[in-house]
Amino acid sequence: MLYLLILQFVVGLGDKVSPTDIEEGMRVGVDRNKYQIQIPLPPKIDPSVTMMTVEEKPDVTYNDVGGCKEQIEKMREVVELPMLHPEKFVKLGIDPPKGVLCYGPPGTGKTLLARAVANRTDACFIRVIGSELVQKYVGEGARMVRELFQMARSKKACIIFFDEVDAIGGARFDDGAGGDNEVQRTMLEIVNQLDGFDARGNIKVLMATNRPDTLDPALLRPGRLDRKVEFGLPDLEGRTQIFKIHTRTMNCERDIRFELLARLCPNATGADIRSVCTEAGMYAIRARRKTVTEKDFLDSVNKVIKGYQKFSATPKYMVYN
Ligand SMILES: *[C@@H]1O[C@H](CO)[C@@H](O)[C@H](O)[C@H]1NC(C)=O
Ligand SMILES: *[C@@H]1O[C@H](CO)[C@@H](O)[C@H](O)[C@H]1NC(C)=O
Repeated sequence: MLYLLILQFVVGLGDKVSPTDIEEGMRVGVDRNKYQIQIPLPPKIDPSVTMMTVEEKPDVTYNDVGGCKEQIEKMREVVELPMLHPEKFVKLGIDPPKGVLCYGPPGTGKTLLARAVANRTDACFIRVIGSELVQKYVGEGARMVRELFQMARSKKACIIFFDEVDAIGGARFDDGAGGDNEVQRTMLEIVNQLDGFDARGNIKVLMATNRPDTLDPALLRPGRLDRKVEFGLPDLEGRTQIFKIHTRTMNCERDIRFELLARLCPNATGADIRSVCTEAGMYAIRARRKTVTEKDFLDSVNKVIKGYQKFSATPKYMVYN
């Protein structure tokens, strides 16, 4: 797995570089000691080392995705089936969907499921975060999108996952000032690329948002993001399963009543439940115990779930729904 970070530094100018050689927004080389600018670099940006994470072999399976039974079924049908059995579609003479829009509150398993589909189909997984594409690559967005698809085409099979796509694909509006032109160009390039690849090929595009109401209808036209899959809050059974998934590798005492715990977290997302499990482990560590007890979990639910209610993004999403 490959994770990449971008750091920001405020640096000075090296002795051999004149201030007129350096322009705003350009790439530069710095030395390793003082981080002074030593050399201006050409604008070429290699997308594989910038705004995206690339996983050649994601290690998540459907079994690791809790509380999304329906969503898993839908994704298997619209993404997995065409990638693993393209001949079925050829025989029938229909084009499989090129892309899927995943929407729902944060922390409900959208990214996880996308990675699991990539694992199942033996595809490379590329994740791009919409807001980063827009904010970090002013003037470069469209080119980054082109290079991204180019890279995807070089793989045997590839799933491109655009997270927070509302940052790019928000409905276009003309403010007259042209301030959003750049975002629009990026968005149009995505549409362009979506139209440009073969539905029967080995690239699938997934996009995720928690603001489906704001998306540009152009993205959702037939032949682009054909399918929409909603990710909701997990029900009791789903939450119980998520507890079991996250405690699989934990050293817990036997007979913990996970269903009871799930009942105590009525509106929790998968991400909330993961925090509960981690915090329960922290209680055990603080008490210098080697196993996590049910009481640790109960204390943790109290702390995490009550604490989260103040910050949770879930109610906000519910308003838009
Ligand atoms: C899928 O994930 C499993 C579990 O982590 C891993 O063992 C397997 O190698 C992965 N498969 C692919 C094709 O990446
Ligand atoms: C769960 O969410 C629903 C809908 O937003 C809300 O009416 C209910 O009060 C919430 N329950 C708890 C315990 O937070």
